[in-house]
Amino acid sequence: MKLLVILLFSGLMTGCRGNSSYSLPPKLLLVSFDGFRADYLQNYEFPHLQNFIKEGVLVEHVKNVFITKTFPNHYSIVTGLYEESHGIVANSMYDAVTKKHFSDSNDKDPFWWNEAVPIWVTNQLQENRSSAAAMWPGTDVLIHNTTPSYFMNYSMSVSFEERVNNITTWLSNSNPPVTFATLYWEEPDASGHKYGPEDKENMHRVLKEIDDLIGYLVQKLKMLGLWENLNVIITSDHGMTQCSENRWINLDLCIDRSNYSLIDLSPVAAVLPKINITEVYEKLKNCSPHMNVYLKKDIPNRYYYQHNDRIQPIILVADEGWTIVLNKSSSKLGDHGYDNSLPSMHPFLAAHGPAFHKGYKYSTINIVDIYPMMCHILGLKPHPNNGTFSHTKCLLVDQWCINLPEAIGIVIGALLALTTLTCLIIIMQNRLSVPHPFSRLQLQEDDDDPLIG
Ligand SMILES: *[C@@H]1O[C@H](CO)[C@@H](O)[C@H](O)[C@H]1NC(C)=O
Ligand SMILES: *[C@@H]1O[C@H](CO)[C@@H](O)[C@H](O)[C@H]1NC(C)=O
Ligand SMILES: *[C@@H]1O[C@H](CO)[C@@H](O)[C@H](O)[C@H]1NC(C)=O
Ligand SMILES: *[C@@H]1O[C@H](CO)[C@@H](O)[C@H](O)[C@H]1NC(C)=O
Ligand SMILES: *[C@@H]1O[C@H](CO)[C@@H](O)[C@H](O)[C@H]1NC(C)=O
Ligand SMILES: *[C@@H]1O[C@H](CO)[C@@H](O)[C@H](O)[C@H]1NC(C)=O
Ligand SMILES: *[C@@H]1O[C@H](CO)[C@@H](O)[C@H](O)[C@H]1NC(C)=O
Ligand SMILES: *[C@@H]1O[C@H](CO)[C@@H](O)[C@H](O)[C@H]1NC(C)=O
Ligand SMILES: [Zn+2]
Repeated sequence: MKLLVILLFSGLMTGCRGNSSYSLPPKLLLVSFDGFRADYLQNYEFPHLQNFIKEGVLVEHVKNVFITKTFPNHYSIVTGLYEESHGIVANSMYDAVTKKHFSDSNDKDPFWWNEAVPIWVTNQLQENRSSAAAMWPGTDVLIHNTTPSYFMNYSMSVSFEERVNNITTWLSNSNPPVTFATLYWEEPDASGHKYGPEDKENMHRVLKEIDDLIGYLVQKLKMLGLWENLNVIITSDHGMTQCSENRWINLDLCIDRSNYSLIDLSPVAAVLPKINITEVYEKLKNCSPHMNVYLKKDIPNRYYYQHNDRIQPIILVADEGWTIVLNKSSSKLGDHGYDNSLPSMHPFLAAHGPAFHKGYKYSTINIVDIYPMMCHILGLKPHPNNGTFSHTKCLLVDQWCINLPEAIGIVIGALLALTTLTCLIIIMQNRLSVPHPFSRLQLQEDDDDPLIG
């Protein structure tokens, strides 16, 4: 019944949508709080974020892509592609053909980004639309010769308030209007690395600050009259897991440093051999019981992490909580990058706005599913991608969606209604046939009907 009412209602809403305020193009603000592990939401208090969710939707787990690092996952959100297909396969990369290096502080060469087309570029190719970015990996790079019309060069010293103030200014008065915008914040990733996610006291303090920032954002949007018509997605790139000095894998104990170059270190090491690949592989293979060693051709299919020249000939994948080191120089108490099927690596997603249901909870989607959903909301034709639009239908008001529990509910409800109705009819017939003396006569007449006819 509830669902029928909802369906009827959303039907009416879309019917009314032809005109009024909805003739404006839809707008979307995509927000990422780096390293916001999914279960922080269950284990800490977020009054502002919970209010946002109460009037919107929540996806409790977002299955991200391998490797579960920042640049690769942020690019998957805005392209819908696995890392092997969008080309940002790590935060540190090396291309053997061009001899180019990529790192988070040396990321502006379009060469690295041009294997995919991010949504802000596609959005901007639509007539009368522009994009804006208060940071997000890639938004200050000329990708396919295009940056967002409004953007900031990356700098971690720009405050959250300044990022919000500038992005909301761009969202409220630009011509052509900004219809897609991004907002990025470095926390709780930085503190997650420093303290480790199991440091309840410090994480409590940091996560309260994040919630206050969300409160600031919502208040600002309301003040500027953007809140009602703007779609806002709050999500993240990956989670965080606890590390320890007792869980180190020291490569120096297994192989001489002169035999290989290390393109990326931990928890997924990218190894470029300088000697015979097989020899390097043999030396590393039994280096630690807490690390998987793969030749490129043997990387498990479920990682979708193989078919790209930027993936090195050998990769080492540490078990959850283990750290690959060269010497005892690592001081991280929290890290990410591990197997993307680990719940600790997953972020969450919350969304609010005219495109989304109110008060709807959903258990899981893939990070690559966000892209086709965003294209749908903005009315953009998506580029070929690895996401599945139907995974997000239940979040959207303009889509039909029946999930299994609701379907079972509807069937049971219908059966109950049918049974009740049958009983009522039987009771009514009995009542009718008992007290009225003529009813029997009428019945008999009816019975005679076929004979007469
Ligand atoms: C909707 O509004 C436009 C102008 O904004 C008008 O041309 C059109 O006829 C309206 N459509 C309906 C169904 O009212
Ligand atoms: C773009 O904007 C101009 C002026 O505001 C308007 O004349 C034109 O019809 C718009 N084009 C589209 C496709 O909306
Ligand atoms: C970003 O930095 C480049 C190079 O330092 C500079 O030319 C450009 O104007 C800056 N852009 C913005 C939007 O600040
Ligand atoms: C934000 O906007 C103000 C006012 O226009 C400007 O002075 C400042 O440079 C902007 N900040 C960034 C990081 O672009
Ligand atoms: C590889 O390491 C061994 C020591 O294990 C060393 O003798 C050899 O010279 C190294 N080879 C190269 C090419 O550096
Ligand atoms: C690498 O070493 C393996 C065994 O040690 C050998 O079979 C193979 O031919 C070598 N490959 C090259 C390219 O030298
Ligand atoms: C530890 O490794 C780093 C990076 O390779 C190197 O610069 C440093 O000298 C090493 N320290 C020790 C004590 O070996
Ligand atoms: C992901 O999507 C791209 C673009 O359509 C495609 O080339 C690639 O084969 C897809 N990957 C998988 C594993 O389906
Ligand atoms: Zn991080």
